[in-house]
Amino acid sequence: MTGTALGAAAERREGHLKVTGAARYAAEHPLPGRAHAWPVPATVARGRVTAVDTTAALDLPGVLTVLTHENAPRLTEPGDPTLAVLQDAVVPHRGWFVALVVARTPEEARAAAGAVRVEYAVEDHDVTLTADHPEAYEPETVNAGHPARREYGDPDGAIDSAPVRLDVYVSYRVPPLHNHPMEPHTSTAHWEGDRLVVHTSSQGGNAVRATLAALFELPEDRITVDTRHVGGGFGSKGTPRPDVVLAAMAARETGRPVTVALPRRQLAAAVGHRAPTLHRLRLGAGPDGRLTGLTHDIVTHSSRIKEFVEQAAVPARVMYATPSSRTLHRVVRLDVPSPSWMRAPGESPGMYALESAMDELATALGMDPVQLRLRNEPDREPDSGKPFSSRHLAACLREGARRFGWDRRDPRPGARTEGPLLVGTGVAAATYPVLVQPSTAEARALPDGTFTVRINATDIGTGARTVLAQVAADTLGVPLERVRTEIGDSELPSASLAGGSSGTASWGWAVHDACTRLGGLLGGLTGRLPAEGVTARADTDGRANAESPYARHAFGAHFAEVTVDTVTGEVRVRRMLGVFAAGRVLNARTARSQFIGGMVMGLGMALTEGSTMDAAFGDFTESDLASYHVPAHADVPAVEAHWIDEDDAHLNPMGSKGIGEIGNVGSAAAVGNAVHHATGVRYRELPLTPDKVL
Ligand code: MOS
Repeated sequence: MTGTALGAAAERREGHLKVTGAARYAAEHPLPGRAHAWPVPATVARGRVTAVDTTAALDLPGVLTVLTHENAPRLTEPGDPTLAVLQDAVVPHRGWFVALVVARTPEEARAAAGAVRVEYAVEDHDVTLTADHPEAYEPETVNAGHPARREYGDPDGAIDSAPVRLDVYVSYRVPPLHNHPMEPHTSTAHWEGDRLVVHTSSQGGNAVRATLAALFELPEDRITVDTRHVGGGFGSKGTPRPDVVLAAMAARETGRPVTVALPRRQLAAAVGHRAPTLHRLRLGAGPDGRLTGLTHDIVTHSSRIKEFVEQAAVPARVMYATPSSRTLHRVVRLDVPSPSWMRAPGESPGMYALESAMDELATALGMDPVQLRLRNEPDREPDSGKPFSSRHLAACLREGARRFGWDRRDPRPGARTEGPLLVGTGVAAATYPVLVQPSTAEARALPDGTFTVRINATDIGTGARTVLAQVAADTLGVPLERVRTEIGDSELPSASLAGGSSGTASWGWAVHDACTRLGGLLGGLTGRLPAEGVTARADTDGRANAESPYARHAFGAHFAEVTVDTVTGEVRVRRMLGVFAAGRVLNARTARSQFIGGMVMGLGMALTEGSTMDAAFGDFTESDLASYHVPAHADVPAVEAHWIDEDDAHLNPMGSKGIGEIGNVGSAAAVGNAVHHATGVRYRELPLTPDKVL
């Protein structure tokens, strides 16, 4: 890396297109003859469809067809059972799609969907997660391939005999959470002869293409997937969703382009959620605060059709030095919608619980919570014994404490009041793993002195186009304005998804290598470039995914100040401050946005967000943004994100770690710990709504 483009606060390249409405999202492709489809969700939580009467719906104006499990095209059985839409009569959960109405306009499709009559054979359902559920079991692995259980030493014995002991028998509870991106899950599909073209809102176009190829038995080169602009995902668009399958089906059946834009109200059950987690934590420590044992046991739910296990005890394997530890996951398969990825899966709920427990332990020890964390810094990754490629948690804690003014804090809970308000401050740590996946990129030099970088990366609102241009310009040693990036099209060289905070590292590595190769080619050239330019390609397979001898994680520290209204029970966040150590920061502007976005999501998780499973109906009661409260501007106070530049040679050519998720990790715990400091009361169930706090 030689140039100066990396790290600069470059403005996002598609910003103007977005604010002027020129950026086309998946629903905004008004192809000639385009039709619109509206799904019909099941109204029972478990059972079978016994009859579908479409007569009334078909009589309504504009209706082209109604697809049900009886007449929909047969698909090859998908790897992901949530994509087997309209294939049989089984209803695995409420909200499962049992029909699809296709009509000329969205309004006609919606009206006709309401006229489809579905009859069911209903079975008893169970949607209630409890810590002692008789059907809870220990899976083989949890998400991201982690083992469900890790244990070393004698944690229970060590905790039982510890001088200071924290035993949270009453578990921390994180409710189901929903991603709710601004752009709901949407696809427009059309067939050009035997070619399928889809415009879809997804975090990874290559996976969409591979999935459609398998489902419809088409070679991948007959499918084009456009993901040029995506209005957020947060994990819920990390895998293909039913909208793209339904759109492709409906387009084939009607011979027209068809758009399926899932209505917000149907999202909660159809596109995944963060599964609820019940945590039991035990910590033992000596009088000096050093941990002697740690156990983190979690119970979560998954659906009947899919085992998806939120890996919430995994961050406890990374965080603190302890001679004994157990981290264990159990799961209960219930009649609920299938859970899925949501920003910082595992780390987000897991660190809420662990970092709250560390705060409780600090209180029990009479020790400052920053000091307690510093006291338990490990010199190797506790669970694996691997050396860290870099770990600057201590520096983040110290720098955060300094910037926040932590030393002025009176540690006594409930000591600070302003009229009816109690004021408190809290701290929590953050961690997120470094993930990288193989990708391919192409770089071309043109005779006019400009360069084009092509890679099927996805920009879900992060600024991927911009940072990849920075990587290219830096590698080539040319000004940023001379580099164009083409992304979001499956005709481009294939790339991994925008997920796991891995996008920039994965794509950037391939871009870096293609540009390095191109530089080599250009250096060997004599005379002018040919009209078509000179092109180099690089593929990081075998390198980006190679096992590292190092434990590689980003770290961070969150500080929060809250007020608690003793009259109304309302908690407001006054300020949040995060300091992160995430390798080299490649774009100061978009990185700050990512950190702050994650922190705000944690604010929502702490105070307002939560989906309630209605035990009688078997569905989430919150199905719109009026009932599922994400933070609005008025809820978001001064939020500051800072970082410590790390020089880590064990990552990738840019030296970057992921930044998309770590801002979210631990931020809810910092808010919760501040609420404890304000009130002296420990609330262990999120969100901290007035009914709980008063
Ligand atoms: Mo993110 S939940 O890894 O897309």
